[in-house]
Amino acid sequence: MTLTHPDTTVTAREAFGLDTDLVVPSFNEPDEHVPDIDADYRFNPDVTRALLAGFTRNRRVLVQGLHGTGKSTHIEQVAARLNWPCVRINLDGHISRLDLVGRDAVVVREGQQVTEFQEGVIPWAMQRPVALVLDEYDAGRPDVMFVLQRLLERDGKLTLTDQNRVLAPHPSFRLFATANTVGLGNLNGLYHGAQRLNHAQIDRWNIVAALNHLPADDEIAIVQARVPHLRDQAGRDLVSSMVAVADLTRRAFRVGDLSVLMSPRTVISWAENVEVFGDTALAFRLSFLNKCDEAERPLIAEYFQRCLDHELDESATELDTAA
Ligand SMILES: Nc1ncnc2c1ncn2[C@@H]1O[C@H](COP(=O)(O)OP(=O)(O)OP(=O)(O)O)[C@@H](O)[C@H]1O
Ligand SMILES: [Mg+2]
Repeated sequence: MTLTHPDTTVTAREAFGLDTDLVVPSFNEPDEHVPDIDADYRFNPDVTRALLAGFTRNRRVLVQGLHGTGKSTHIEQVAARLNWPCVRINLDGHISRLDLVGRDAVVVREGQQVTEFQEGVIPWAMQRPVALVLDEYDAGRPDVMFVLQRLLERDGKLTLTDQNRVLAPHPSFRLFATANTVGLGNLNGLYHGAQRLNHAQIDRWNIVAALNHLPADDEIAIVQARVPHLRDQAGRDLVSSMVAVADLTRRAFRVGDLSVLMSPRTVISWAENVEVFGDTALAFRLSFLNKCDEAERPLIAEYFQRCLDHELDESATELDTAA
């Protein structure tokens, strides 16, 4: 890593189309940890403002929202435009305290086996100008959350107890997180593995931004950007019907008629599968319907029929899909 401090600025207006005069520190040259720019990414203005406050003023920002709404990529895409190195760690069930903090490892030095401390991702990141993203923050195990709690103290120092060392964060270290819930646990049954978070833990985030579903026009534009063969007028009509199906599942979910909903990620993969199979109904079954409870399939099939004006044989079994 060559540079340790931002050496230039971008304006939020130019880089993100925000209606504000905010000037954001950034780096001239990307390094290997800067995510690639996705030119088709569409920024949500409120979330962008929250994230820019995170980068500019060193605020800790938690982005919360339903699955597949673009939370993780939103943070990465802001970092990409600032050339700010960005590292994501997924706190799902497998990561342990030692992965995060570090551990003693046996290494061979000049033919001798010696024990050496190998630092984990958190000490590594916090000594550098890195935006660390704690993904799936609400799925972290209690031992992991305990480590993070220390990092979230006001001065953000981390004590490596086994090492008798206290690490102070680099001035350009930034901390972000994403979560499906705001720490209330798996209330609606969608997020198994989501933990109830201690309110003291949520309290330590300076800013909580919500990223849920986009207006239909934006979602249509995102899908069309992802799937080039749907960019013509016929494609737009099709995508707009697909987004309408997704919207019906989201409404039904809200009122309790369905236990699942179609995420923007699923709409994108449905559109991609339309290209793969050349068959909208088959692509729908493979991308979404087969993931749903059998008891709910007739209702979902009805939504499909309503929006696409096309019969969906929802009685077809999962194995029958290649027909
Ligand atoms: N605003 C957007 N512009 C372009 N692509 C988007 C946008 N929102 C979502 N996507 C696409 O949707 C997919 C899902 O995004 P992402 O993985 O960031 O969602 P997430 O909210 O982090 O999901 P999860 O809660 O499951 O972690 C990605 O392929 C992403 O590129
Ligand atoms: Mg994510």
